[in-house]
Amino acid sequence: MKDGWKFLRSLRFRITLILVIVGIVPSIIIENGIVQSYEDRAVNLRTVTVKNQCDILCNQLVRNGYMDNPSNEVIDGEFNLLTNIYGGRVLIIDRDFKVIKDTYELDRQKYMVSQEVVNCFRGKETSQYDNRNNYIEMTVRIQDPDTKNLRGVLLISVSTIEIRSSIQILEQRGLLLLAVIMLTVLILGYVLSGYLVKPFQKVTHPIEDLTDGYLEESISVPDYLETELITDAFNKMLGRVRALDESRQEFVSNVSHELKTPLTSMKVLADSLNGMENVPNELYQEFMQDITEEIDRENQIITDLLSLVRMDKKASDLNIEMVNINDLLALVVKRLKPIAAKQSVELIQDSFRPVNAEIDQTKLTLAFSNLMENAIKYNKEGGWVRISLNADHKYFYVTVADSGFGIPEDSINHIFERFYRVDKSHSREIGGTGLGLAITRGAIVMHRGAIKVYSKEGEGTTFSVRIPLTYVV
Ligand SMILES: Nc1ncnc2c1ncn2[C@@H]1O[C@H](COP(=O)(O)OP(=O)(O)OP(=O)(O)O)[C@@H](O)[C@H]1O
Ligand SMILES: [Mg+2]
Repeated sequence: MKDGWKFLRSLRFRITLILVIVGIVPSIIIENGIVQSYEDRAVNLRTVTVKNQCDILCNQLVRNGYMDNPSNEVIDGEFNLLTNIYGGRVLIIDRDFKVIKDTYELDRQKYMVSQEVVNCFRGKETSQYDNRNNYIEMTVRIQDPDTKNLRGVLLISVSTIEIRSSIQILEQRGLLLLAVIMLTVLILGYVLSGYLVKPFQKVTHPIEDLTDGYLEESISVPDYLETELITDAFNKMLGRVRALDESRQEFVSNVSHELKTPLTSMKVLADSLNGMENVPNELYQEFMQDITEEIDRENQIITDLLSLVRMDKKASDLNIEMVNINDLLALVVKRLKPIAAKQSVELIQDSFRPVNAEIDQTKLTLAFSNLMENAIKYNKEGGWVRISLNADHKYFYVTVADSGFGIPEDSINHIFERFYRVDKSHSREIGGTGLGLAITRGAIVMHRGAIKVYSKEGEGTTFSVRIPLTYVV
């Protein structure tokens, strides 16, 4: 049953249906037209023949004085012949509307004042076809062939039953033909639609394979433009899935590596302590200090990873409120002042105008403090960091510029990647996990914002951030 419904919704069924309709409807119309025109022609022919016979008969009536004395065997014989041939009835009505002859002998001597008879006396002969009861009824004027005087009216009805039976035979044959056409179209339609739909099935199979885990091959079904468009779009999506899969694998291996490094150091430190006898107190303390640092580092990595995971979640997790951005930046600057002072880096804050925006305060605070922290960390002694805020009617702009080492050109495209650090050995001294910018960019993108970086090695780096003033879902 379910399969039946499925088939009704399929392209194959639709194509078959359309073909059947296209095949059948014209056939029905043509069949009806043929039957109708046959009927018209047959009735016309019959009317003309009977009318001619009646005209001849009327002339004979007058010549033989039948209107004055309706008992002429020859004429009666003619009447019988006529009614026998056409299976009908003849009435002769004189000028007083009296029936002087009825081949059925039912209405003789009665008066007949029907509309048709009256019309005929007035000069208008009538002829009517009753297709329900299958007869033609007509009135013919009986007039003197010489003087043209009207003597009476001949009312004749002839049966058309054999026309009807011919039509019935015609209709039956037509119906049979229709059934044959329908069956042929149905079979042809089914086969043809199967052929037409095949390329779409060719698209489905590889997609199903993919769902089972084959990510290797792209698919190509160039049979139709449509299938080509579908497969192109699909291949694009496949590319993204592959990239995502790769980055996921890379991320996992990076995470395990990063988490393992402090553990390895701790293990080495602990092992060497264990291996020594009578460890001097200073050495013991030094090693313990190192172990504590590694624990801090491990802790930092886990905290950063958790922030990153939070950023990866849906935008609906944002806690949006109206925030004064000047205050927010001032707070971050205040918090980082001691660290900057330690490195003799000057923190300068420029605010061109008061800015209020709908943002998630916690997430953007983290983002900006990451940028400033980097600007301080990767700076030289006595350098500076300049934070400026500006806005237009749609966005606010924050730039964090520093006088630090700058970022090499070949690294600039990678700095937002998770765990990426420009100079591993150098960065190692400075400390960090390489997750800061990934977190920052995550937070900004969640606000439908953008982040760009300009840098020159040895001169400094500028990060510029653009975020909409009102949050759009
Ligand atoms: N202002 C900057 N000047 C020079 N290099 C920078 C600057 N900001 C970032 N970088 C480079 O980009 C790399 C990635 O920065 P990111 O903030 O993601 O990681 P991190 O600072 O090393 O570690 P953390 O996760 O602790 O922030 C840094 O290691 C550094 O090499
Ligand atoms: Mg950082």
